[in-house]
Amino acid sequence: MEILDGRKTAKDIRKSIKIKVDELIAQGKRVPGLAVVIVGFDPASESYVKSKEKACKRAGIYSKLIKLESEISQETLLEEINKLNRDENIDGILIQLPLPAHIDPDAVMNCIDPIKDVDGFNFINIGSLCVGKEYLAPCTPKGIIRLLKHYNIELSGKKVCIIGRSNIVGKPLALLFLQENCTVTVCHSRTKNPEFHTLNSDIIVPAVGISKFLKSDMVSEGAIVIDVGINVDSDGKICGDVDYESVAPKCSFITPVPGGVGPMTIALLLENTFIAYRKLISS
Ligand code: GUN
Repeated sequence: MEILDGRKTAKDIRKSIKIKVDELIAQGKRVPGLAVVIVGFDPASESYVKSKEKACKRAGIYSKLIKLESEISQETLLEEINKLNRDENIDGILIQLPLPAHIDPDAVMNCIDPIKDVDGFNFINIGSLCVGKEYLAPCTPKGIIRLLKHYNIELSGKKVCIIGRSNIVGKPLALLFLQENCTVTVCHSRTKNPEFHTLNSDIIVPAVGISKFLKSDMVSEGAIVIDVGINVDSDGKICGDVDYESVAPKCSFITPVPGGVGPMTIALLLENTFIAYRKLISS
């Protein structure tokens, strides 16, 4: 069994982005910029946002944090986004989810200029991904594919089982695996006998947000397991969607939690910001 080290892989990606950013700045280009908008207070969101800011700084990317009160109207929020759409020092715009219940997340995501949509949640970018013409794809799914490729894992022809059909992970990840010529099954809360699908898969990706959901009797010998979950177990410890102790010995490769998919998401956010920056400075 080999561990897919997301922390180390993410560091390599961040380093290579920093080199490319420094080169462009040395040629006289402006500094790339990422705006992160957070509405209301959510402890998990605060912690993600801090990690994103730190990663930007280290990669030579300017980061602008915009904190808005939870009572903000949808109209005012859309005005704030339009200001960022027009801001020439901002290449990427990320609106931290979840948003308060009175705000329609689709209206917010679709207000972001698709060129600056580093989360890839805008309908235009989702549509492009769907027809295989990806511009900015969501960071977590992109991070998962990148991690597998970093370890030279052959994807073509592999049977993949994704558990979870969210717009942030499950659905875009299914599209990216299809693009890699995998055969993809997406299980969800109404799937009967998920173990029937997981036992027949080469790669299993649980993204359900349930502590230790994937047990060893759901995994075949030699499977590759990518754990997207970040949960807190009954002892208050961070754990994933995989019952790691029992599943890991059966795997050929597995991601740890923490230190697997999480750091890759942030690295790919920087990469998406760099892609948007390169497009904007050349347009
Ligand atoms: N909240 C949890 N995951 C994400 C993500 O990938 N992007 C944004 N914007 N918010 C999130």
